[in-house]
Amino acid sequence: MSYLKKYYIMAENELSERKMRNEEKRRANIAAAEQKVPQLKELRRGLLSGASKLASVLVSDGDPRSAVQGIAKENMSVRKKINELLISNGFKENFLDPIYGCEKCKDTGIYKGKRCSCFMDIVKNLQCLELNASSAMNLCSFASFDLNYYSDTEKALSGKTCREEMRYNLNYCIRYCDDFHLPNNGILMIGGTGLGKTHLSLAVGGELINKGYSVIYGSAPDLFRKVEREHFDSTLESDTMQLLQECDLLIIDDLGAEFESKFYLSVLYDLLNTRMNKGKPVVINTNFTLQELQNRYVGRISSRLFFMENLHFYGSDIRMIKKFSE
Ligand SMILES: Nc1ncnc2c1ncn2[C@@H]1O[C@H](COP(=O)(O)OP(=O)(O)O)[C@@H](O)[C@H]1O
Ligand SMILES: [Mg+2]
Ligand SMILES: [Zn+2]
Repeated sequence: MSYLKKYYIMAENELSERKMRNEEKRRANIAAAEQKVPQLKELRRGLLSGASKLASVLVSDGDPRSAVQGIAKENMSVRKKINELLISNGFKENFLDPIYGCEKCKDTGIYKGKRCSCFMDIVKNLQCLELNASSAMNLCSFASFDLNYYSDTEKALSGKTCREEMRYNLNYCIRYCDDFHLPNNGILMIGGTGLGKTHLSLAVGGELINKGYSVIYGSAPDLFRKVEREHFDSTLESDTMQLLQECDLLIIDDLGAEFESKFYLSVLYDLLNTRMNKGKPVVINTNFTLQELQNRYVGRISSRLFFMENLHFYGSDIRMIKKFSE
């Protein structure tokens, strides 16, 4: 089965489950309303028979226009009556109407003869889920990011303490997620090993996934290797590169840890450039200093990195602190 087809089938299933859940919800609404206002049942039956009368008029001989008009008028007044009863009994006006997750395609997944955007969103989210399956997105949250690991006496270059600097970084990321909007310039996290860059990147990713955005997280070596494999092996049916370009947020962990190659450079440039043109952000973290980034990556890449919000991480290796405090 082709790579995409698998996701299309999964998305179809998701959509029909969604539809069933909504139909169930509607049936419960109708039952609740009819129990409280028994009169509604009779009125709704009248509506249904109106519809069948309409059908019989349409197939009968003669000019059906006036008959159709009569039935339509009658139906309208029944509908009005139903709504009045609903409201006067504390229900919302359209409480008995069908419920749709997507008003555009009414949960059919097709809109104006094409796949509806809601369907494509499901496909995209399924693909992201699979790519993220191995990451620790659930374990690393803002809540578990403890500022006490950072010294409140040791000073950073700015003159502020490490903890103050890190509090700024944490708050920046929380705010970034709170009012996440597209386009935005993304974040570059810079600093030594064990200072919490991966932890904070994953926290951002998890937060935005919970808000319904499509997020892909991967380490630079893993992501580039995956793209490379698909690029050079025509038997692999996949479109990782396209996903990396199109997801709402791409998180590249540990930039610089990947093998040095021309191909990877072109992939990185392509990703940064395409995403920036679309106003789609990247969160990148790296152990490299700004100078090292400039040496390793050509100007058209490093200039894009510096254009992002640069957050500097300070402190001592938390992995070590945790290990020795056990
Ligand atoms: N502020 C923090 N509070 C609690 N645990 C942290 C914090 N920062 C890092 N850690 C933990 O320390 C370990 C190393 O952090 P990590 O995010 O991988 O560092 P980096 O990516 O900068 O090398 C991880 O287990 C991580 O969950
Ligand atoms: Mg890391
Ligand atoms: Zn739709």
